[in-house]
Amino acid sequence: MKLIDARRDHYRRLAHEQGYRSRSAYKLKELNKAYRIFGPGHYVLDLGCAPGGWTQVAVQIVGNQGKVMGIDATYVEDIAGAYLIKQNIEDEKVEEILSYFERKVSAVICDISSNITGNWSVDHAKQISQNYACTKIMDQVLTFKGNALFKVFDGEFSNEFRDFLKKKFAKVRVTKPKASRKPSSELYYVCLGYVA
Ligand SMILES: C[S@@+](CC[C@H](N)C(=O)[O-])C[C@H]1O[C@@H](n2cnc3c(N)ncnc32)[C@H](O)[C@@H]1O
Repeated sequence: MKLIDARRDHYRRLAHEQGYRSRSAYKLKELNKAYRIFGPGHYVLDLGCAPGGWTQVAVQIVGNQGKVMGIDATYVEDIAGAYLIKQNIEDEKVEEILSYFERKVSAVICDISSNITGNWSVDHAKQISQNYACTKIMDQVLTFKGNALFKVFDGEFSNEFRDFLKKKFAKVRVTKPKASRKPSSELYYVCLGYVA
């Protein structure tokens, strides 16, 4: 077995054993440990949250004093401690978000992507456009100095998206957690200190 497959199996097994709905849960754990995107008591909005691995991790980290809301175009089974809604993020509706949190949020985390077609240019362009739609929601709900996290399918428009984010945050770090498979061209943009 290749090292990459072994690692993927390792995280899949761990997720099963520890009750996480996705391997991606470990990517968020790793990134949050390294960058402290959010912490206890924080309010976190999870865009593109199904099946809910990131939401589960966020609920654990924010604890009783925090709040977590997950949005996905598909149905997500209940997660104790999280408020979940079925909504297309491209609708850019924020009323329910603001009414649930009753104030702006500390962090917006986006793991958004559709089923891949196998044509990388198409998948990349679509995923970047979904990320821009997420920023339209983010701009209405993220608090000053708040943080964000975006998964990015790397390709010709990634740098443009990174530069767009750089205008909105004090720092943007480009990274790839160990839990992310090596051959996959996904990167993570960790955005710290929202200014605009
Ligand atoms: C990779 S999955 C997220 C995995 C999740 N972070 C986890 O740990 O379980 C990406 C999600 O983005 C959602 N998505 C894609 N386009 C969307 C849209 N326009 N509006 C809402 N959700 C969308 C998909 O339905 C899918 O569930």
